[in-house]
Amino acid sequence: MDTDQAYAIDTLAVRAGGVRSQFNEHSEAMFLTSSFVFGSAAEAAARFQGEAPGPIYARFTNPTVQMMEARLAALEGAERCVAFASGMAAILATAMGLMKAGEHIVASRSIFGSTVQLFSNILGRFGIETSYVSPTDPAEWRAAVRPNTKLFFVESPSNPLTEVGDVRALAAIAHEAGAWLAVDNCFCSPALQRPLELGADIVIHSLTKYLDGQGRVLGGAVLGSQALMEGVYAFLRTAGAALSPFNAWVILKGMETLSLRMEAHSRNALALAQWLETQPRVARVFYPGLPSHPQHALAMAQQKTGGGIVAFEIEGGQAAAWKLIDATRLLSITANLGDTKTTITHPASTTHSRMTAEQRAAAGIGDGLIRIAVGLESVADIQADLARGLT
Ligand SMILES: Cc1ncc(COP(=O)(O)O)c(C=O)c1O
Repeated sequence: MDTDQAYAIDTLAVRAGGVRSQFNEHSEAMFLTSSFVFGSAAEAAARFQGEAPGPIYARFTNPTVQMMEARLAALEGAERCVAFASGMAAILATAMGLMKAGEHIVASRSIFGSTVQLFSNILGRFGIETSYVSPTDPAEWRAAVRPNTKLFFVESPSNPLTEVGDVRALAAIAHEAGAWLAVDNCFCSPALQRPLELGADIVIHSLTKYLDGQGRVLGGAVLGSQALMEGVYAFLRTAGAALSPFNAWVILKGMETLSLRMEAHSRNALALAQWLETQPRVARVFYPGLPSHPQHALAMAQQKTGGGIVAFEIEGGQAAAWKLIDATRLLSITANLGDTKTTITHPASTTHSRMTAEQRAAAGIGDGLIRIAVGLESVADIQADLARGLT
């Protein structure tokens, strides 16, 4: 690639970060090796001191992982990407790499259940406190700031209610407070939203989702400026929640079809959301691409499309929700998202079951709520599968 040219995102997704070995392979190589051989003792010493380029040990320098990191950095417009074994490891590394005991996080209360556990139960035990606020009300973020606030953390759109946070507004408040804004960009992927361009300092990914795109492997990543990523990389190098080169290769290949997939997921999700709104037993549909979504205008300004996730509230609470889920024959009852296969889940009893009932109520996750991560099957077949449980 010509390093002086500003390539479009579709081109970057296919080619950015690719490095050829001496064999000139066309598809990127998978380096399944844990260590790398040095030409001499002096070269080994120089690499360890950071004075000579080249890989050292696969926990922190594997060429396949580095190709994946470079490609994702290009897609997000970030100076640097640091990859991890999972999305949760990436979130942990952000806190461990950039914060210390006695500091404070302001987080959206509509974030992934495991992230709440990590912040409240694990980081809490090590002296980092978290305050939870509404993702859609910037005034609550401002009011929650303390002198020791170091990090703002938001998912936009959120899981599972697809609430949209105003990234520009939150970045401005974070910066006034001397804090960083981290955005979990899992639901959109860089094909639909680039938080760094909107003012965020850090982007976090569960690569397990749309970046892989086919439900095969786990992975995570943290992206931002060179300076900020130094701390995150130092944590990886020492603490070792490294992404395997095999997983990195799978994700690298997944990225090549990212834009096409995100367009198709979004098209199907919009059609499904519109159809769900016409169903008498559906009390409410949550999808940023619908004009009825409370942050529709903001979502359309901040994202390219509404994305692939639709949630809806069925009348009759948990019993009705479970009945509808159990009546499906095509959809997969699984908590993952971002797969070509459509998945259906009941957040209150699965992904968000470790939250207390009060925390769930505050986050708006009702017992009748169902989340659909819309895949790439025919939308008519997806509708037919849901219609069985809706009638
Ligand atoms: C929004 C969001 N962030 C982070 C994660 C954690 O990612 P992983 O499962 O790769 O650890 C998930 C997983 O479902 C998620 O939905």
